[in-house]
Amino acid sequence: MKKCIRIVFLAVICFNFLASGSSGEEKKSGKEEKKFVIGFSQATTTEPWRLLFNKELREEAAKHPEIELIVRDGMDDVAKQVADVEGFIRMKVHAILITPKVAEGLTPVVNKAFDSGIPVIVLDRDLTNDRYTQFIGGDNKLIGRAAGEYAVKWLGGPGKAKGNVVEIWGGSASSPAQDRHNGFHEIIDKEPGIKMLTKPNDGDWKQDKSYEIMADALDENPKIDLVYAHNDPMAYGAYLAAKDMEREKGTAFLGIDGIPAEGVKWVYEGTLTATFLYKTPGDEGIRQALRLLKGESLGKRVILPTMTIDKTNAEQILRTNGIIK
Ligand code: FRU
Repeated sequence: MKKCIRIVFLAVICFNFLASGSSGEEKKSGKEEKKFVIGFSQATTTEPWRLLFNKELREEAAKHPEIELIVRDGMDDVAKQVADVEGFIRMKVHAILITPKVAEGLTPVVNKAFDSGIPVIVLDRDLTNDRYTQFIGGDNKLIGRAAGEYAVKWLGGPGKAKGNVVEIWGGSASSPAQDRHNGFHEIIDKEPGIKMLTKPNDGDWKQDKSYEIMADALDENPKIDLVYAHNDPMAYGAYLAAKDMEREKGTAFLGIDGIPAEGVKWVYEGTLTATFLYKTPGDEGIRQALRLLKGESLGKRVILPTMTIDKTNAEQILRTNGIIK
């Protein structure tokens, strides 16, 4: 009996050994496949645009089994985002992708990563210098100009445009907000009939902050003809403030981003007058990082396309994206 127990015991040990050996192999080869560790530092995840950005980035990475992706959310906090990038440097990741919340506060840590030999691809918001590998994003000056041209046309056309305009800024320390402002003013400042009602303000890209800015503007000004907000959530926040005061009629609301489930839908529903596509850069970021990690050299800037979205094409975009049937 004792002998029998010993045999069974030995058989179990043998089985476990073989089984653990084979699963060990699997793990090993699984690990070996993940050749490239990419750290992605996102500025925030509060807006739908950023969630779409993250989703596309993750989906693109999932197509490539050789990539191990680590995502960190900076939670709209510069110190947290700096710490996230410091963490990637300590981990010696193979590449860093980053959307810096603001230029000034994030430039030193990105430069530090780059100087330590880690390639860095900057997405959407730029830094104060170009000590990084590549930038991918939309042309925000061009988008600002397109919004300016739309505003001028809406208010009567070049040379004849007339009206009171409220501009609601995104995070004023970020490059998209500055470029969207400058591009817009390049066009509208040529129009003597256009009056800017607000001084530079900072809506930090947030719908609720924009609501407050617009509520104050409405209190102070009996007539507002057009609102230019640096993104769709803020254009929508401004619309809600006007609606709550029963003053939304006769005012045009322009936003930027143009993601189907948000800005395009608001245009289709008649809440926003127009939005300007600001393509999310996550999928392109992964594709470029992979090219680099496989030994290709990258161009310094990849500029993503834009388009104007208003009532002439919003419905078609929603159909193409399966948002309406
Ligand atoms: C999302 C967002 C977008 C905007 C972009 C600018 O966080 O506010 O709405 O277009 O950032 O960087």
